[in-house]
This record gives sequence, structure tokens and C-alpha cells, in this order.
Amino acid sequence: MITVRIATQRDRGTVRRIECACFGYERFLFGLWPRTGRADSTTWIAESDGMPTGYVIAYDRHLNGMPIMYVGGVGVLPKNRKQGVASQLMKAVLAQHPRLWLHVRASNIAATALYLKLGMRIGQRIQQFYSNGDTALVMQSATITEE
Ligand SMILES: CC(C)(COP(=O)(O)OP(=O)(O)OC[C@H]1O[C@@H](n2cnc3c(N)ncnc32)[C@H](O)[C@@H]1OP(=O)(O)O)[C@@H](O)C(=O)NCCC(=O)NCCS
Repeated sequence: MITVRIATQRDRGTVRRIECACFGYERFLFGLWPRTGRADSTTWIAESDGMPTGYVIAYDRHLNGMPIMYVGGVGVLPKNRKQGVASQLMKAVLAQHPRLWLHVRASNIAATALYLKLGMRIGQRIQQFYSNGDTALVMQSATITEE
């Protein structure tokens, strides 16, 4: 069974471990995990049968001059992927924050498909957004697009 809960500072080690497993061990020093439990951010943790398997970290960031909840990181442990973990996490985030936006690498087929399936829409395309020159897609919840 997959459950989702809000993380506290005590979960930082868990979020760090999953973030590093998803994005590489340089995240140990340069990850978003230190935001977990901080007043300006919210982190959600998914547990599969009681074991932590995924996380989302979100915080306010300006979109078109307005502060809107921004998903800075989403990750699921490789062995727990394709089981609905990220979907459950993102549904929990969207239930609390229907106005949501994020950047995703244009090459990240899995993540883009996940967000589209949740009803998010593709907006701007930003060339050279990432440090390695990759293109980013701005994705936002339909409520923002329709405003
Ligand atoms: C992207 C990621 C978070 C998806 O997590 P997940 O728990 O496997 O996703 P779910 O099982 O909830 O899948 C939901 C939907 O996403 C899409 N999806 C997930 N993995 C996919 C893949 N490998 N290829 C294509 N579509 C995929 C599908 O539409 C899927 O729905 P379906 O199962 O009905 O086909 C996970 O692959 C991951 O952690 N990747 C590395 C980190 C990353 O890229 N994070 C996103 C940064 S923006």
C-alpha cells in the first residue's frame, strides 16, 4: 500500500538518500533535501508498505511575477518505479496546491508523461535552461493556464 505524508526535519536523511539515488551523489552536497522541514518549503514522502520510496519538495517561486507553488524535485527509488508512487505523491501535492508549476527536462519522457497524465500542461520551452545545456519545459496545472 502506498501512503503519502508531510515530511519533517527528521526525514532529511531519508529524502537525501532518495534524492541521491534518483539524481546522483553530487546531490549529497547540492541537493534540495536540506529544505525538508524548513518553513519556506514543504516535502511530501511516499511510503510503500511502510518503507520510504519517493519524495516531492515544493516551495513558492515566481511565475509571471506571481509567487506560485513550484515543484523543485520529484523522485522515486528505481526499484519502486512504475507502481504509482509519483502519481500518489503528485495527487497529494495538487490536492493541497491546485496551482502548481515546475520545470522538466524536455528529454525526460517519464516525468513529462507523469505530469501530463495528472492534467498539467506544457507552457514555455526554455533552451539551455540546465547547466549541461538541456532544454526545459515549463509545466503548470490547468487552473493556471485557464486564468
Ligand atoms: C519520473 C518518476 C518520478 C516517475 O515515478 P513513478 O513512481 O515511476 O511514476 P508512476 O508509476 O506514478 O507513473 C505515472 C505515469 O507516469 C508515466 N511514466 C512513469 N514512468 C514512465 C516511463 N519510464 N516511461 C514513460 N512514461 C512513464 C506514465 O504515464 C505513468 O502512467 P502509467 O503507469 O499508467 O503508464 C521516476 O521515474 C523518477 O524518479 N525518475 C528519476 C527522477 C526524475 O526524473 N524526476 C522528475 C524530475 S522533473
